[in-house]
Amino acid sequence: MNFKNKIILAPMVSVNNIAFRKLCSDYGADIVYSQMIDSVGFVRGSRRLVDFYDEKNLISQFLGNDPKSIVESALGVADKVIGIDLNLGCPHSNVVGRKCGSYLMKFPKRIGDVVKGLVKNVDLPITVKIRAGYDKGHINAVSIAKLCDGEGVSAIGVHGRARTVNYMTPVDYSIIKKVKESVGVPVIGNGDIFDGESAKKMFDSTGCDSVMIGRGAMGNPCIFDEIKIYLKGKNSKKVDKKRMFLRYLRYCKRYEVAFVEIKKQAQWFTKGMVGGGEFRLRMNDAKSVDELKEIYSEI
Ligand SMILES: Cc1cc2nc3c(=O)[nH]c(=O)nc-3n(C[C@H](O)[C@H](O)[C@H](O)COP(=O)(O)O)c2cc1C
Repeated sequence: MNFKNKIILAPMVSVNNIAFRKLCSDYGADIVYSQMIDSVGFVRGSRRLVDFYDEKNLISQFLGNDPKSIVESALGVADKVIGIDLNLGCPHSNVVGRKCGSYLMKFPKRIGDVVKGLVKNVDLPITVKIRAGYDKGHINAVSIAKLCDGEGVSAIGVHGRARTVNYMTPVDYSIIKKVKESVGVPVIGNGDIFDGESAKKMFDSTGCDSVMIGRGAMGNPCIFDEIKIYLKGKNSKKVDKKRMFLRYLRYCKRYEVAFVEIKKQAQWFTKGMVGGGEFRLRMNDAKSVDELKEIYSEI
């Protein structure tokens, strides 16, 4: 696996279950990331988010700050994935409070220890997903990226926002460009990609090797093919969202996805549809997959 010219599904907790990842892969995602999995919980035996079966393009993302737990977790899934990612970007206070995710951007030495442990002990490509920095006063993506490159990672994902910058502020392409110019390994540009045009903008503005899409894929897994077609200069065909949703339901059945999760995703699929708001309200009250199908059939 190389990390060049890839259109990638970003890790998203509460979104990237097996059915959604499969659907994204069917619609062109070259690589899919798992939800972030807590390495401490994993080592203690929790497998709640480890819904790994038969994917050929899955990278498992782990959260943590203890090299031993992260290596043990990575080895625990190594036969089911094509790579391991270290989460250095999660901004949530409960994660930062545990000195994990974006908190680690302030502690290069610890990042080095974790990455070194992974590269030495796990016979798979290791990637990191970083942010521009911890906050606006500490924009250090370049030095963290260089450190990870030196420790032997296979690619570096960069979300071009600091931890304290919310989605209302546009992604900062310049920091991703600086990272790209500073390291030898492939760089994956991430942030604000919602269609072919914004994907091209990410490639052109930063020189990144691959792009990673988060929110733009929610309820819209066909974005990966759409981007590929756009980048080839062609017009994409309209995708039948109903068919896509039925395919999603088949995966949910096959992998026994919980109904609450199915319902949440079902609502995202109505995003941008005429009358979508009303359908979402009705879906709220649905009690079964058949009810969801019935509501969908009226759309
Ligand atoms: C619902 C949701 C869940 C997320 N979960 C994770 C996660 O588990 N790990 C991670 O590194 N980033 C996570 N992110 C951040 C995304 O991977 C991505 O970096 C960010 O949304 C910017 O990309 P976008 O503009 O394409 O959404 C999450 C984002 C969203 C919206």
